[in-house]
Amino acid sequence: MRTPIIDFIKEYEKKNPLRLHTPGHKGRGFLGFEKYDITELYGADELFSPSGIIAESEKNASEIFGCPTYYSAEGSSLCVKAMIYLLSQIKGKTPVITASRNAHKSFLYGAALCGTEVIWLPPHEDDTYISVTVTADGVRRVLKANKGVDAVFITTPDYLGKTTDLSDISKVCKEYGALLFVDGAHGAYLHFTGDDPYKYADIYCTSAHKTLPALTGAAYLHVRYPVPAKTVKAALSAFASTSPSYLILASLDGLNEYLSTYKEHLSAFIPLVEKTKTKLTDHGFVLYGGEPMKITLDANRYGYTGYEIEKYLVGKNIYPEYADKKFITFMISEKTGADGLDTLCSSLLCLPKKAGISDNGVKFRTPDKAMSIRDAFFSQKETLPTGECGGRILSDMNVICPPAVCPVVCGETVAEELIPFLLDIGIDKLSVVR
Ligand SMILES: Cc1ncc(COP(=O)(O)O)c(C=O)c1O
Repeated sequence: MRTPIIDFIKEYEKKNPLRLHTPGHKGRGFLGFEKYDITELYGADELFSPSGIIAESEKNASEIFGCPTYYSAEGSSLCVKAMIYLLSQIKGKTPVITASRNAHKSFLYGAALCGTEVIWLPPHEDDTYISVTVTADGVRRVLKANKGVDAVFITTPDYLGKTTDLSDISKVCKEYGALLFVDGAHGAYLHFTGDDPYKYADIYCTSAHKTLPALTGAAYLHVRYPVPAKTVKAALSAFASTSPSYLILASLDGLNEYLSTYKEHLSAFIPLVEKTKTKLTDHGFVLYGGEPMKITLDANRYGYTGYEIEKYLVGKNIYPEYADKKFITFMISEKTGADGLDTLCSSLLCLPKKAGISDNGVKFRTPDKAMSIRDAFFSQKETLPTGECGGRILSDMNVICPPAVCPVVCGETVAEELIPFLLDIGIDKLSVVR
């Protein structure tokens, strides 16, 4: 597969041009790769109205993913906001969205900026502030009770590697005339596992940089719903920098070539990850989540906190993706290699098992809504110690419970009963509506 963006940048650099354009480093910087860091100069195309090398590269990506695919140099964070705005363009009105509570904060920002009404899916009985279960039945209940929901927004996989099956949810969406939007930031590689979980989504995003070998910031917006490319680009442009990083675009371009043989790499590697998981469970570790390329351990069931295992591993020069009081998560890719998996596994097996720590997690309950996300976000705010915020309306976007379930979102009332939990997860100050 051709790599038009990479080829252009390399040829440009080889010509040793007089760079009378941004960036100011002029190809000579502190890091060594500045020579490849260009801007939308003559011949380099434009990300938000492409007709040259970027258009060709995005066409290649679209062929790989089997649906129109657009580049983001600003992560899924940009794509999620664009998706919400795009919905308003599709529906010709300020949209109403039903969302799973593990939505990323970019969803909250998008909802605030677009004035979207969000109806949260009700919690499942087992839901904690760590992870929620989303079912087609839950979606049906909300769509039945709320006429005129424009889209259902699901996040899968979640940060710990728990996945949601979209097939039945998509049937319910069709029944009620709602579009299915998916935040697949953690699942770009899943398309290549032989059973693409996103084939049911009307519009979805994936972060290439999280699970595929791409530079941080590289992401895709995949639009299966028939929307003109111009409208999609305008939606992305509404929230993006007008100076996209060509290093990131080139990374996405190079990825197209890599992805043409990726399925084989992945299918050879997944069994090694499975073997590692088996070795760990045989030794007494308890796994969480079913995602093939993530390993999440319930550290408590092995007698530790996630933080303790993280500290132990960092002492061995091994850096996990995430740790909290209960869990520790390792993100694996084929680039980890068999030796990387062995190093992780043998280090974990050296940890002596201790008596389990009991922690069933705090049960999630949806707080009372006092005002819209938008109104609370744009309100005058004051920041107070969390202990003084009982009964106040949150105007903060940053109360994300590690790893991803919001205990209280902007516009909701901070319940007195929630305060000990917020303090326990280290949230000692909150912004509330003045
Ligand atoms: C579920 C989810 N969605 C979106 C994002 C944002 O992705 P990005 O870092 O590519 O902007 C994240 C980031 O961690 C995430 O966990």
